[in-house]
Amino acid sequence: MPPKTTPQPSWKAGVNPFRRYQTGHADAEPCSIVIFGASGDLTRRKLVPALFNLVVEEALTAPFNIIGFARREDNDDDFRKKLHQALDDHSRSLPERFTGLNDFLRRISYHRGSFDRPEDFTALKNHLLDIEKKRGGPRNRLYYLATPPESFTEIIRNLKAAGLTGNGLNSEGWTRIIIEKPYGRDLKSAWTLTGAVHSSFAENQVYRIDHYLGKETVQNILAFRLGNGIFEPLWNRRYVDHVQITVAETLGVENRAAYFDQAGIARDMLQSHIMQLFSLIAMEPPASFEAGHIHDEKVKLLRSVHPPEVESLPDILVRGQYTAGSAGGTPVAAYRKEPGINSQSITETYLAIKLEVDNWRWAGVPFYIRTGKRLAKQVSEVDIIFREPPHRIFAQTGIEKLQPNVLGIKIQPEEGISLNISCKRPGQVYQIDPVSMEFNYATSFGVPSPEAYERLLLDAILGDTTLFAREDEVDLSWELADPIIAAWENNPEFPLAFYEAGSWGPREADILLSRHGRHWRRL
Ligand code: BG6
Repeated sequence: MPPKTTPQPSWKAGVNPFRRYQTGHADAEPCSIVIFGASGDLTRRKLVPALFNLVVEEALTAPFNIIGFARREDNDDDFRKKLHQALDDHSRSLPERFTGLNDFLRRISYHRGSFDRPEDFTALKNHLLDIEKKRGGPRNRLYYLATPPESFTEIIRNLKAAGLTGNGLNSEGWTRIIIEKPYGRDLKSAWTLTGAVHSSFAENQVYRIDHYLGKETVQNILAFRLGNGIFEPLWNRRYVDHVQITVAETLGVENRAAYFDQAGIARDMLQSHIMQLFSLIAMEPPASFEAGHIHDEKVKLLRSVHPPEVESLPDILVRGQYTAGSAGGTPVAAYRKEPGINSQSITETYLAIKLEVDNWRWAGVPFYIRTGKRLAKQVSEVDIIFREPPHRIFAQTGIEKLQPNVLGIKIQPEEGISLNISCKRPGQVYQIDPVSMEFNYATSFGVPSPEAYERLLLDAILGDTTLFAREDEVDLSWELADPIIAAWENNPEFPLAFYEAGSWGPREADILLSRHGRHWRRL
């Protein structure tokens, strides 16, 4: 007879981060998740709903606890009530339908504390020890910095002083830290932050979040490029005329005026989300799906971007700011009239730029990027515009120009891929028209996409850094963003182009492309 064995929970068998790709279930270990800035918007709108949905969908079955750390006077019961309300408002699965709701809420506790008071961190340690004793299993801890960036360094310092940083691999359990954006406001401050982070945590404990990487459609960029044999051979200067990346929002600055007026769209969107999209589109195929291989290729790509020269910036860069107009049919104020915005502000709410990549694959292929607030439509899309056929056989039929083939990768709100091709219109007149072949997530798969934060939180719990930004990636994207921002911060004469809220941005952005006989895609 085989020896009798006691079944072990899956987390005791050790973690295989790839197993969930095969089974959809994660080998997560129990852990405590401490959210700094727990009374803020991010906790209510994204973090707690994401953890809840992971439980509902059984993607996360290991026991875990959520500890909210914030300055505000609060207690466990009231904090739970607020988060219950947050689930009602923001969770994609209905809380009342889930029988484990109360159990989920019971795992939440509140720890009142100031980020600058070491004794509050000592108390946090006792709070954690207490929870971990009751829960049993290893003392795994995940810290989430969901505070304004000014507090990052202080929190990190006090975590270390309280002996809460671990070494990531000790026998008691792992310790990891997720750092929200913005990660610095330029290369220098990013280095300073990295210095502070590394004085307490090793790089393999650090998870710099960029929520765009958690979006299904963004993850699909690599699946689409490298899971199909037919596109990769075309993915280069021989076939691609240019690439357009659009991240357009109809929203204004909402309730983040103080932050945004200091940051501007270059820091807020270009350095982070857009650089990530750009890297995934343009990088070389990695050797494998392992985090290190993917990060290496992204870094190699960012190193190949032609550094914008100061003299050329006025020709390749447009900064804009919205004036009064409309959003969804409702009149809206000019940026300078938004509550909390300086009435003389020259902060950019729009940016368009042409980037070039100095490597064998992309030499001579422009990447046009545009992003802005209060634009005509909320849409994020990457378009690969292919070259025209090399020889025109249709000249005698009266057809002078064909529309180029365009591959559109739709990130949001529409999720899918379209390929525009030219086809003969039926009839005696020889006419060739563009038509579109479409893939749409909702109709093809019929299941809703998980929220970006669900995927990213689960990855951090599993110790998978693939969808987080490595230190050198962040540095290189600042190296790219810094001279762009310096173009206007060092030169007050740099033009600020105004555009009406609800339009597609300033005219100057159209000229950026029309100079080379191109135009922005109508999305
Ligand atoms: C955030 C920016 O990181 O991303 C915001 O700070 C922006 O300004 C937001 O609105 C866009 O995210 P999403 O997922 O709505 O496209």
